[in-house]
Amino acid sequence: MNRMGMQSPARHPDFARLTQQQVSLLSRKGWYHSVRLADGTVISGLVSVEALQARLRSFPIPGDLTGKRLLDVGAATGGCSFEMERRGAEVVAVDCVEYEEFHIARKLLGSSVEYHILDVEELTPERLGRFDIILFLGVLYHLRHPLLGLEKICALTNDTAFVESFVNDALPAADARDGACLLEFYERDELGGQIDNWFGPNTQCLMALCRSAGFARVNLEYFSDRRAGVTCRRHWEPVPANPAAPPPWINAAINNRTGDIYFHPAKDEYVCIYFKSKETGLALQDLRVEIDDYGVPTLVLASLGCGGWQANVKVPPGLPLGSHFVRVRTVSSSFGNRFEIVVTGDSSPPCSDEATWHTPRLPAHTSVTPTSPMRIFQESISPRPTGSMRWVSPRLSSPASVTIP
Ligand SMILES: C[S@@+](CC[C@H](N)C(=O)[O-])C[C@H]1O[C@@H](n2cnc3c(N)ncnc32)[C@H](O)[C@@H]1O
Repeated sequence: MNRMGMQSPARHPDFARLTQQQVSLLSRKGWYHSVRLADGTVISGLVSVEALQARLRSFPIPGDLTGKRLLDVGAATGGCSFEMERRGAEVVAVDCVEYEEFHIARKLLGSSVEYHILDVEELTPERLGRFDIILFLGVLYHLRHPLLGLEKICALTNDTAFVESFVNDALPAADARDGACLLEFYERDELGGQIDNWFGPNTQCLMALCRSAGFARVNLEYFSDRRAGVTCRRHWEPVPANPAAPPPWINAAINNRTGDIYFHPAKDEYVCIYFKSKETGLALQDLRVEIDDYGVPTLVLASLGCGGWQANVKVPPGLPLGSHFVRVRTVSSSFGNRFEIVVTGDSSPPCSDEATWHTPRLPAHTSVTPTSPMRIFQESISPRPTGSMRWVSPRLSSPASVTIP
C-alpha cells in the first residue's frame, strides 16, 4: 500500500479475480475480438465490436488509410487488423500464437491481411519491411524485455505507432508527482495470475520508455481502467514557416565511446553532437535532432560557452549499415548543415590504438572546423563531468586536442 492508500493491482485480489474471469471467458468463446460479418451477423468474442471501435477511436488513427502500410502486433483474432484493412490499409498481422479464429475470420471476411506467427523479439525491417503505422496494443507488459520490444517497434515504424498498455499508477504518489518513471516487475504470476505478465509501468514510465526506444514525440491519448494509450511519432512537428532564429551549425557528431563517426548496430552507443547556435538559454525541449529525417530525443544538452553546445542522443534503432546524416534545429529555427555518421558491422577497437584499427577513415569531406569543440565529455551521460583528462582523436582529419575540466 502506498502513501495514497492505493494498492498495486499485483496485490489486489479483485484484479486477479477479474483477470481470471476474462481468461476463462476467452477460453470458452475462443474469439478475443467480436467480428461483424458482411451480412451483419456478429461472432461474439471477449471484446465487443463497440468496445473495440471505442478503443480505436481513442487514438488519432485516420478513417481513410488508403496507401498506408500497417502492422498489427499481437493481433490475436484480428479485430484491429480487419478494421484497419476495412479503412484501406495494406495490413500485416503478427502474433506469437496462431489463432485458428484469425484464419476463419479472414476467410469469412474475404480479407487479404498477411499473417505471421512471430514474437516481437523476432520482428525486423529485413523480415517485414517498414510500416507507416503500427498498432502495438495490449502487448508491452507481456514482454520480458519491454524496452527492447519498443525498440523493435520503433525500428519498423516510418511514421506513427499507437501503443497501449496496462499501467500501474498505484505506485508511490509523491514520486509520481515528481514525474518519476516507475516500473513494477512481476517475477511469477503476481499480476492477474498470468505467467506472461512481466512489467507494470506507471503512465510516466510508459511514455518515457517510448521516447527512450527512439520515438521523437509521445502523446498521451487516454488513461482509464489501468490502461493507457499513447501516440508515438518518429518525426518532429513541421519547421516553423518563418524561423525567428538562425539555424545551428554542427561542428562534429561523434561516437561517445570511440570519438569517431562509426557506430555499431548492436552496441549501446550515443552520438555526441557539438554545434554552434546564436540562441541563448537553449533548453533540452527546444532542440530538434534528426538522423535521416527521423526525430531523435535529446538526452542531455550542455552549454560549452561562446555559443557552443553539446547534445547527446541515443543512436535510433534500425539504422541500416552505411552513411546517415545528423542535423539539428531548434523550435525557433530551421535546420543547419548535415553531418555524416556511418553505421558499420565492424566491431570498434577496444582502445584507440591506430595499429589495430581497421575501419575506414573518415569521408574526405568530414572535417573539424576551427570552431570545433573545445571540450568533449567522454562520459556522455554526464552534462557536468568532473575530473580531468586529455583527449585526442587521431581519426578526426584535423585532430582536436581537448581538455575536460
Ligand atoms: C491482450 S491481447 C491484445 C490483442 C490485441 N492487440 C488488442 O489489443 O485487442 C495480447 C496479444 O499479444 C500476443 N503476444 C503476447 N506476447 C507476445 C509476443 N512476445 N510477441 C507477439 N505477440 C505477443 C498474445 O498472444 C495476444 O494475442
